[in-house]
Amino acid sequence: VKNIIAVVSGKGGVGKSTISANLALALAEGGASVGLMDADIYGPSVPIMFGVRGARPMMKEVEGKGMIVPLEKFGIKLMSIGLLVDEKNAVVWRGPMASSAIRQFVTDVDWGELDYLVIDMPPGTGDIHLTLMQTVPVTGAIIVTTPQNVALADAKKGIAMFGQAQINVPIIGLVENMAYFTPAELPNNKYYLFGKEGGKNLAEEYDLSFLGQIPLVQTIREGGDEGVPAMVGSDEITKNAFRNFTAQSVRNIALRNANLPQTALIEVV
Ligand SMILES: Nc1ncnc2c1ncn2[C@@H]1O[C@H](COP(=O)(O)OP(=O)(O)OP(=O)(O)O)[C@@H](O)[C@H]1O
Ligand SMILES: [Mg+2]
Repeated sequence: VKNIIAVVSGKGGVGKSTISANLALALAEGGASVGLMDADIYGPSVPIMFGVRGARPMMKEVEGKGMIVPLEKFGIKLMSIGLLVDEKNAVVWRGPMASSAIRQFVTDVDWGELDYLVIDMPPGTGDIHLTLMQTVPVTGAIIVTTPQNVALADAKKGIAMFGQAQINVPIIGLVENMAYFTPAELPNNKYYLFGKEGGKNLAEEYDLSFLGQIPLVQTIREGGDEGVPAMVGSDEITKNAFRNFTAQSVRNIALRNANLPQTALIEVV
């Protein structure tokens, strides 16, 4: 796997899973081979967003070790912890148990050759995040926020986590989701329901690259619920927002790879 991109946020519900799914699809549209890993043990979304709920992945033997074979949908290799563990059980797991499940899950998936592996992270900045940073050499993180102050405050915690010397995962940039509302019948109108450019300003304040704005549109929510992500749909304005964000991310990832050494795994004791 050439590039491992973690999609993170301090706050829940800001659109990490939506951004992850459509980023993966936009990368694949550009010709890359892409995997998407849903690491949200407490609220896995990938099975719903890709319409593969209830599917069970196959196992295969690789050098004497049982490996999980990712599912494939819309040209993306998919794996979700939600396809392996019982959702009803996982919600009551405490930190250490969740962390060890994540570690095993991550190391036991046979991704094959990929240009990009997108990791849809759980919300927050807790144990599971540290476990992932110890287990996978993440190329860089993409921070998702919505424009309102309560989300920005939590986004700062996410930024701070990656700023810790011991973590050492570079931030690829920040994307502002639900940046403005656009009604389907007035596709050129923008209503700044959650405030204007909160994410953009935060990126400036923290000297992060701004990756773009994704509008709040009904088709994105519908696509997510129906298992057909926006990038597979026919709303070209929305798709272009994801394409622009993805193109900027790709440029930043290339810059990061040219300027910084590969991420080393961290030791947390
Ligand atoms: N730009 C958007 N326009 C409309 N709906 C959106 C948009 N982004 C996300 N949503 C919807 O908002 C809800 C939350 O999004 P999503 O699940 O992607 O957030 P999340 O950050 O992954 O949440 P969690 O923290 O629970 O993992 C979903 O119903 C999704 O379809
Ligand atoms: Mg999610």
